[in-house]
Amino acid sequence: MAPGNSSPLESFVRELDALLEAARQSFGSASSLQQVEEARVAFLGAKSGRFKAAQKQLGQIPADAKPTAGQHLNRVKNEIQAAFDAAKARFATESFRGEADPTFDRTLPGTTSRLGRLHPITQTINELMDIMGRLGFSPAYGPEVEDERHNFEALNIPADHPARDPLDNFYLSVASKRDGETRLLRSQTSTVQIRVMENRQPPIRVISLGRVYRPDTADPTHYPMFHQMEGLMVDEHVNLATLKTVLQLFATNYLGASVPVRIRPSFFPFTEPSVEADYFWNGKWTEFGGAGIIDPNVFKAVGYDTERYTGFAFGLGVERLCMIRHGIIDIRNLYTNDVRFLRQF
Ligand code: PHE
Repeated sequence: MAPGNSSPLESFVRELDALLEAARQSFGSASSLQQVEEARVAFLGAKSGRFKAAQKQLGQIPADAKPTAGQHLNRVKNEIQAAFDAAKARFATESFRGEADPTFDRTLPGTTSRLGRLHPITQTINELMDIMGRLGFSPAYGPEVEDERHNFEALNIPADHPARDPLDNFYLSVASKRDGETRLLRSQTSTVQIRVMENRQPPIRVISLGRVYRPDTADPTHYPMFHQMEGLMVDEHVNLATLKTVLQLFATNYLGASVPVRIRPSFFPFTEPSVEADYFWNGKWTEFGGAGIIDPNVFKAVGYDTERYTGFAFGLGVERLCMIRHGIIDIRNLYTNDVRFLRQF
């Protein structure tokens, strides 16, 4: 039958087939993603694409031939879509391998994207919690804005004690007005000892790691904000030997070798006796932090039976531990947040 005499269905099908052929041709010969996109607009464009135009012809098809015409229409649409997908994929891989672009030298080193990482102090905190967790100490937390009871009074630091000097603490004027109570940024994590003992009965084995604040001028070993790790153990028969053993196990775990620990007499209002603990590493004695046996006055402040229970506490500087481990010589480097420094850890 000559084309002029063909039925509406036949010419509809023939036009669609021609359209498909043209589409395959265009997508197949596209040599850049842009050309693929141009072909997509020309054939599949929602407004004036050629397929859309062909689809409109469906209206001219007699009712009894419509199902057949519709099926063909769908098939052609899927085929055009497949040709488009294939062209896009072909171009994507070619571009990736650099074959589409003769100026692209795939033997040159690429740009590496850097992985983010945790701040060295966060890494240290995680590791310390992990070590102390294995020694049976569970984490405890307390607020950084504290009242005087938890930062001083219950810790046996009376009102006239020099540790309460405004020059040595960040007292908050705003918070104080709230309920008439004086508040300050905690100057030590020993506050958490009180918070834990107020709420729980022995046996207690907790570790508290967090920020503390003191108005010190920043220098290589001081910073107005730093972190402490506070340990607290309360039970029957806890003594200095228990404390020393725990510190020794901790030092050995953290520094990765058998580390001798020694204790020297010291003074803290909330411990009696009080000690300063040192460990021997890299050929010299290095200070750990303060520690001691909980003063009975502290137990009285939280309502513990001082005849039955004894306990120890220690407070170590987290920055110092981190700096020793990584050979950092200036604490300020930890808080300048220069990525060239932070990237090393
Ligand atoms: N809180 C003390 C300080 O900041 C350290 C310490 C903690 C001492 C626990 C003894 C017991 O210096």
